[in-house]
Amino acid sequence: MGVIRVGLLGLGTVGSGVFKTIQQQQQNLLNRVGHKVEVVKVLVRDKQKKRSLSIDEELLTTSFEEVLEADLDVLIEVMGGVEPTFDYIYEAFQKGCHVVTANKELLAKRGKELIKIAHHFQRHFYYEASVAGGIPILG
Ligand SMILES: NC(=O)c1ccc[n+]([C@@H]2O[C@H](COP(=O)([O-])OP(=O)(O)OC[C@H]3O[C@@H](n4cnc5c(N)ncnc54)[C@H](OP(=O)(O)O)[C@@H]3O)[C@@H](O)[C@H]2O)c1
Repeated sequence: MGVIRVGLLGLGTVGSGVFKTIQQQQQNLLNRVGHKVEVVKVLVRDKQKKRSLSIDEELLTTSFEEVLEADLDVLIEVMGGVEPTFDYIYEAFQKGCHVVTANKELLAKRGKELIKIAHHFQRHFYYEASVAGGIPILG
């Protein structure tokens, strides 16, 4: 059994939900993908901020470079905005990560470029959650 190493950009409304879901659904994820799924680094703006969930402080960082250096398989982007988010995702593809985003603004403004970049680096790019996630409208 291998481990799928996940980096999370953002621990706000969506990021906290993603983190909790991954923690709570360990067995389900293992059954579905055949690997343990582990969040190994989480990028935030402010490490001292009071959070609504319990998380090992060692996981938190304010440095994107530290996230990239964590030997990730998958980067989940839920921090929002277009910059520096676009550059972070570009670097993650370049480094060999698959990327998942819930960022509608980024998709609307630079989605076509990101799809091309993902093709170029032969990585998966999933963005279903960026528009009416959970319905789903966008495949
Ligand atoms: N909220 C929703 O219902 C919803 C639904 C679907 C999609 N989305 C999309 O999901 C994304 C996140 O939304 P959200 O509501 O979860 O936002 P949020 O609550 O404001 O959380 C943003 C998170 O990203 C971190 N962050 C933001 N900019 C950063 C930067 N430059 N460097 C490092 N960390 C940064 C923040 O760190 P700190 O915690 O330290 O401030 C925070 O943890 C957005 O693209 C949004 O459009 C939101």
